[in-house]
Amino acid sequence: MHRQSSFTIRHASSRDVGHVADILTESFYRSPEDQVNLLLRCFTDLVYPLLRYGIMLDLNSRFDDKTPCYACLVATHPSNNFQAIASLEICMRHVPAKSYRDFWLWSEMNQHPYIFNLAVHPQWRRRGVAKQLLLAAEQTVKQWGFSSLYMHVLESNQPARNLYDRLGYRLHHHEGTVSYWILGRPRRFLLQKILGSSYNKG
Ligand SMILES: CC(C)(COP(=O)(O)OP(=O)(O)OC[C@H]1O[C@@H](n2cnc3c(N)ncnc32)[C@H](O)[C@@H]1OP(=O)(O)O)[C@@H](O)C(=O)NCCC(=O)NCCS
Repeated sequence: MHRQSSFTIRHASSRDVGHVADILTESFYRSPEDQVNLLLRCFTDLVYPLLRYGIMLDLNSRFDDKTPCYACLVATHPSNNFQAIASLEICMRHVPAKSYRDFWLWSEMNQHPYIFNLAVHPQWRRRGVAKQLLLAAEQTVKQWGFSSLYMHVLESNQPARNLYDRLGYRLHHHEGTVSYWILGRPRRFLLQKILGSSYNKG
């Protein structure tokens, strides 16, 4: 368990699944347009329980699956130690061995720790919660014996890009360049952070 500032970071248990599903649904499926567009808001409200339920099923299956090197971390505030206000997950994932700076047509893929589903409940943003969660995730990955960590971020997600940049995550690879050029869709950036040199698994 990590305590910094006023938040506590701990490993999630099955009791957290409902709160984590709420955070993920609010963060990834509600858009700021919901506030102004009544029709969109009604639609989101209608599908929200389904989305939340689907996320709960996924979380439960990841919790039950005893895969090594999987973790879900949650943050809580002392005002309610049982209610998660933010979360992230770490798993192992194949990523290209070479960075975008090396000229290559094909790159070997290696498995590395990978962060996904980082989200802070809208009411708790800009208080350093995501930063604390990421620092705790880095400690977890070091304890597993790895020295690097990866994650994806959308080119258009400026808050997340600022956060990762401040914590030392650097561009490793671009994805979606073709749909960016043809359809104007935002690219996905694969970011990497090197955590240190004294670990055994790379
Ligand atoms: C991105 C997100 C996780 C940030 O969480 P947070 O707890 O508000 O972030 P922190 O308070 O730890 O911010 C740390 C730093 O990140 C940057 N940052 C965070 N939110 C920002 C924003 N809205 N605008 C600009 N910079 C921002 C700032 O540099 C900030 O430091 P500062 O507050 O001292 O200026 C949160 O906005 C979120 O849940 N977004 C929706 C889900 C999402 O996009 N997840 C990431 C998927 S890749």
